[in-house]
Amino acid sequence: MLTTRQKVLRNFWYATLALDKLADGPKPFRLLGEDIVLFLDADGRPAALVDRCCHRTAKLSKGWIKGGNIVCGYHGWEYDRTGKLVNVPQFPFEQPVPVANAKTFHAEARYGYVWVCLGEPLLPIPELPQEHDPAFRRLHQFDDYWRCSALRMMENSFDNAHFAFVHKGTFGDINQPKPERYEVVETADGFYAESVVPVKNPPMAARITGTTEPWTKRKMKNHWFMPFCRTMDMEYPSGLRHVIFNSATPIDDNSIQLIQILFRNDREEDCSLEELRAWDRVIIEEDREILESTDPDAIVDMSRKIEMHMPSDRPGMIMRDRLKKLLIEHGESEIPR
Ligand SMILES: [Fe+2]
Repeated sequence: MLTTRQKVLRNFWYATLALDKLADGPKPFRLLGEDIVLFLDADGRPAALVDRCCHRTAKLSKGWIKGGNIVCGYHGWEYDRTGKLVNVPQFPFEQPVPVANAKTFHAEARYGYVWVCLGEPLLPIPELPQEHDPAFRRLHQFDDYWRCSALRMMENSFDNAHFAFVHKGTFGDINQPKPERYEVVETADGFYAESVVPVKNPPMAARITGTTEPWTKRKMKNHWFMPFCRTMDMEYPSGLRHVIFNSATPIDDNSIQLIQILFRNDREEDCSLEELRAWDRVIIEEDREILESTDPDAIVDMSRKIEMHMPSDRPGMIMRDRLKKLLIEHGESEIPR
């Protein structure tokens, strides 16, 4: 599946830029191949417009903010959050501004990020209960550019068979390649998947897992939110919860912005953000190294028999089935390269 060729994917929310990146002015972002500009209006609410001035096509992201409106850096034409042209500084005061609108997109602030939907949302932004639970703190972990497709990253998230190999340097054991099973329950917006996975617990992980034992267990209660978000809720026997949320935001057919937010039911003095970043950084770099080598055109229509499968691939196969169904429901079929 090539994300820019399947129009229905425009009808979902994706996390784009961290809100605080907009504090000093507008910023560009590419979502599903569409160049957009993000900025904060006078109330601090994010807005998303197509990144083009309707005068001479300059990128609005090269401009600046004036009273909550975005000003084109080329000739100073000014647009409000609805995309309406509100000022042409070359005109005399009494001359009306011509009627013109830059294309706008849905934009919402959630979990410290600007979420954008290019079309009409088919589903809400994923609801993360830890956001409202005072037992948890929310930490911003990663915001990285990956040369891999969103579906590859998503299915890897529910693939217990890769731990022994990809993560042999951290929590995986190459001598134990038989994966634990996931119990998968499909939901309206994706699926819920449970599993208990024994993992190595090197000294570097002791404050992450809350134990110095050489091995521990992860009780995983994970969600897939169609199409490209997931949570990985890991509970250790110590009672510590390490809840990772990812948005594999599709930039284009070949790349994603991988956003990782972490919820923990402990405090900074128990395990610092720096330690939590250092541990998960090693793990996601292990994933990145292998995922960036995969073909971004992950096949959704398995009847094409291009890729082979094994039983532990079931979560990824359900994703493919659900995405194929989504395409069909919206009058599309998978468009191969
Ligand atoms: Fe992994």
